[in-house]
Amino acid sequence: MNILQLKDVTLDLGGKRILNHLSLDVREGHIHALIGPNGAGKSTTANVIMGLSGYNDFEGDVLFQGESLRGLSVDQRARRGITLAWQEPARFEGLSVRAFIRAAAKDKSDDKIREALDQVGLEPGKYIDRAVDKTLSGGERKRVELASILAMEPKLVLMDEPDSGIDVEALDRIFQALKIFKQKQATVLAITHSLAVLRQAEHALLLCCGRMVDKGSVDRIAYYFEKKCVPCDHLDPVVRLAEDANVG
Ligand SMILES: Nc1ncnc2c1ncn2[C@@H]1O[C@H](COP(=O)(O)OP(=O)(O)OP(=O)(O)O)[C@@H](O)[C@H]1O
Ligand SMILES: [Mg+2]
Repeated sequence: MNILQLKDVTLDLGGKRILNHLSLDVREGHIHALIGPNGAGKSTTANVIMGLSGYNDFEGDVLFQGESLRGLSVDQRARRGITLAWQEPARFEGLSVRAFIRAAAKDKSDDKIREALDQVGLEPGKYIDRAVDKTLSGGERKRVELASILAMEPKLVLMDEPDSGIDVEALDRIFQALKIFKQKQATVLAITHSLAVLRQAEHALLLCCGRMVDKGSVDRIAYYFEKKCVPCDHLDPVVRLAEDANVG
């Protein structure tokens, strides 16, 4: 069953077409990677799904569990079980890690908060009383955010660049967290331009210039992304296909 569907979504921002008749399906309980080059429209896609302000004036539809999300606020979507981990996690001056995780947690016990910190590789004793502010490194903040999402137990997790600002050792923890979401029957849509993240997924969706270029097996899309996308100058894929046809 598809937990999330984008149906022919077209969005213009600042006079530019950012999402161009984008359709995609996300299967319940599976880990997906939405991969594409810089500026492809990946974060925009996440923002549209989450319903952030400035991203609601589009054509097409977004369905969650078969129902349109049109007209629902970010809070209403969150209550339905959709959450977004930001490309740049927010800081909350004055709020402790414990209070931050507890605010979103389903089970608000200290044990659960500690378990979530442990799952992202942050020693609970060292971190639970720290402040979620600039004294945490970018990678630590990202992991605290991920711990809060684990504790939240959402149905659908959108993760924008889960590996950005993360060192190699911590990256393994992020990848383990993806598996924990799966064990808990949550669905993951990881947004990335990293092959390492792509390889953690079960399904791949390849985006370029706001269009779905290809979807399916991670191995096939990884090969295509590495060989064709990385060296490419991101010409619109439809124009490129026409040019390829002319050359052939
Ligand atoms: N509010 C906006 N107004 C105008 N253009 C925008 C706006 N938001 C995004 N864009 C443009 O839309 C395009 C897609 O942006 P988006 O952030 O979705 O890309 P991305 O695939 O997430 O890229 P990256 O890998 O760099 O994070 C970019 O060209 C960006 O400049
Ligand atoms: Mg982005």
